[in-house]
Amino acid sequence: MALPMRFGINSNDSRRDGGRYDPGPMEVRRGAGCSSQLIHRGPAEPARAFLVWEAAFSVGVWEIDRQHRSLIGLINQLYESVSRGESDTKLQAMFSATVGCVRNHFAFEESYLERLGYEGLAVHKESHKELLDWLDHMRHVFDAGFATMSPELLKFLKKWVTAHILQYDRRYAALAGRKIERLMAIGSVDVM
Ligand SMILES: [Fe+2]
Ligand SMILES: [Fe+2]
Repeated sequence: MALPMRFGINSNDSRRDGGRYDPGPMEVRRGAGCSSQLIHRGPAEPARAFLVWEAAFSVGVWEIDRQHRSLIGLINQLYESVSRGESDTKLQAMFSATVGCVRNHFAFEESYLERLGYEGLAVHKESHKELLDWLDHMRHVFDAGFATMSPELLKFLKKWVTAHILQYDRRYAALAGRKIERLMAIGSVDVM
């Protein structure tokens, strides 16, 4: 997926919207974040959220599903904060926490896939690196004040994350499932 480099530049769209909440096309629910102290706790649960966990996202590995849910929760909270017109300082801190969550998740997942003996690991890593490089670039752009965060950036992030889970992460689900079954058959407590 091509990564746009100019999201939000010279744009204050979310503020011009007057904080209006745009739920987007998918049913929404809020999840737990990776860095809760940096996450704004909204006054009320929205009726519809920006990105919602779906059963189709599950890779069958509890810890990885949990991390994916956390990431989805952070993206939702970031989107809500952008829509409310939170300060750039607040948004930068939240974006930074989201990038940290993505980095930690990718490192965990790659380590897991290595232990799993997953053949597609190199290609999978390339996909991770592509997003991380782009996120790091955008973080520096925001921190330097060259751009403000926009709903468009988060819509792109949502698209990338859902596409990656469905097209890359789901590919190792069958292999992971067979390993979990083998470990359970021998009574191992380490089903990761
Ligand atoms: Fe992945
Ligand atoms: Fe993942």
